Amino acid sequence: MDAPILEGDDIRLMPLDLDVLDEMHALGADPDVLRFTYVSAPFTRDDATAWIQRYIDGWAEGTRAGFSIQSTDGEFLGFMAVISIESDARQGEIGYIVAPEARGRGVASAALKLITDWSLGDLGLERVELRMSSENTGSAGVAKRSGFTFEGTLRSLHFKEGRRGDTAVYSRLPSDG
Ligand SMILES: CC(C)(COP(=O)(O)OP(=O)(O)OC[C@H]1O[C@@H](n2cnc3c(N)ncnc32)[C@H](O)[C@@H]1OP(=O)(O)O)[C@@H](O)C(=O)NCCC(=O)NCCS
Repeated sequence: MDAPILEGDDIRLMPLDLDVLDEMHALGADPDVLRFTYVSAPFTRDDATAWIQRYIDGWAEGTRAGFSIQSTDGEFLGFMAVISIESDARQGEIGYIVAPEARGRGVASAALKLITDWSLGDLGLERVELRMSSENTGSAGVAKRSGFTFEGTLRSLHFKEGRRGDTAVYSRLPSDG
């Protein structure tokens, strides 16, 4: 699968590579990342390397599409990905993290718009979805601002490390415009 650079007005999405290992490792120090994403604690440098490597392999296999979010002058702002691509079913799940110092200024929403347009356009998916903890107010704000439709709640779903919780599901389809 070709790994494109997705250009926005103030940000761009760059195919994920080991050149952002330090920055991706640093995300694991954030309590909200540990609480709301599959990143495990403690999050070691080896864990970060394996995380990025899964996305390098994902580009080669067509199973995942991972990007770093960068400002137009190359500052690392976060992580945005189609974390699983089901090619035959033409659907995928999107996930994201914005670095703590870059939050609150529309980075996640802008990056989600870029990856959604690309997923439903060039990548040819017919559905993309977001899954998030029902307690993740910030991520729900991103979903709503980005035109995703709330579909419902999966109750007491296994999350990680023996934890369970309610999971909200949002989606976008090409026909949503
Ligand atoms: C959730 C997260 C991605 C938001 O990133 P961000 O760049 O700050 O989000 P945006 O600036 O694009 O905000 C989009 C909307 O959500 C709202 N929002 C963002 N964070 C919020 C928060 N913590 N509480 C309430 N609303 C919030 C914004 O006010 C904005 O709403 P508006 O359109 O009405 O102004 C970021 O806080 C993060 O990385 N959290 C930890 C990891 C995580 O939870 N990832 C998602 C897993 S499903």
